[in-house]
Amino acid sequence: MPESPSGGDGGTPAQTADTENPQTTAEEATAGPPVLSKNARKKLAKQQWYEAKKAEKKAALKEQRRRDVERKRKEWEESLASVREDEREKLLESRRNLRKERMEKRSQEKECKRERLSLAREHGQNVVVDLQFSHLMNPNEIHSLVQQIMYCYAVNGRCVSPAHLWLTGCEGEMESALKRIPGFEKWIIEKDNRSYIEALSDRKEDLVYLTADSETVLEELDLKKVYVIGGLVDRNRWKGITLKKAQEQGIQTAKLPIGNFMKMSSSQVLTVNQVVEILLKFLETRDWKKSFFAVIPQRKRCQSDSEGNAEETVEEVHEQDDDVTASKKKCVEEVPANS
Ligand SMILES: C[S@@+](CC[C@H](N)C(=O)[O-])C[C@H]1O[C@@H](n2cnc3c(N)ncnc32)[C@H](O)[C@@H]1O
Repeated sequence: MPESPSGGDGGTPAQTADTENPQTTAEEATAGPPVLSKNARKKLAKQQWYEAKKAEKKAALKEQRRRDVERKRKEWEESLASVREDEREKLLESRRNLRKERMEKRSQEKECKRERLSLAREHGQNVVVDLQFSHLMNPNEIHSLVQQIMYCYAVNGRCVSPAHLWLTGCEGEMESALKRIPGFEKWIIEKDNRSYIEALSDRKEDLVYLTADSETVLEELDLKKVYVIGGLVDRNRWKGITLKKAQEQGIQTAKLPIGNFMKMSSSQVLTVNQVVEILLKFLETRDWKKSFFAVIPQRKRCQSDSEGNAEETVEEVHEQDDDVTASKKKCVEEVPANS
């Protein structure tokens, strides 16, 4: 059991008071690695503790699954051994048929998904994930972003009217990590090593960078526009970095209208997969409220309005990992090896 950095008993990490601001401004992003404050060091220790615990849980889950498979195999063998020869043949035959049906259903579903995604390439809402921030993330954060992207692809593939996803600035470490995803080469998306500004140079006026720091509130989704999401897992360490980037490039920015519909218990900064999922839900329902309530986890929302709205505080240390881990369970089966 990894030891809690707060000296706890291995339960939830104790919360520490945030007297210093561990966030990093966009200006500092260019000034090399930041010197960590005492609070930032504490946060880092907590994060490492959390990650060790997560790895431990993952190993336990894997072991449990292995035992389940083993148990089922034994049960099956016992049931075969306990029946007559002719009944055994019948059991084997019905199992073969069941498997065949399942495979046929799966390949039909896969075909439908390919059709929907190909249609989206022509007529769908374009959504870009800007991958030009890999130099600002540690290996765990890059891993987390890759998981989020896998999740986005899986959720999009399940939509009746999916969006057309782009991964731009896809190079270096990020590209290698993505290429390790089984079946990634076959994904129906746009992958470009160039930045979105280059890849979509003829549509610069249609680009809208989504960022929680924008003053403009997104009212609607416009099919003619291309919405850009910052491919960053930073626990808002690099606060304002996407706003600054978009402003320097002279492109439009907008934030999701979260504040119009719900109060958050902490920051309005969401993870990449949550933003993609909200956009997809909105494309389906044209209802922001429904979309936010369907995607934003309960623990991120205020219990009631009277509790106030402590916006723009630092996200919990492990929040971004949790958000994708929770959803991953749903998507593991949705990202088959060669979908
Ligand atoms: C984890 S956030 C990265 C936060 C980063 N510090 C920044 O400056 O954007 C990932 C991305 O999701 C999008 N995003 C997150 N919350 C949002 C919100 N409330 N409104 C619009 N976009 C949001 C932004 O594109 C953001 O870059």
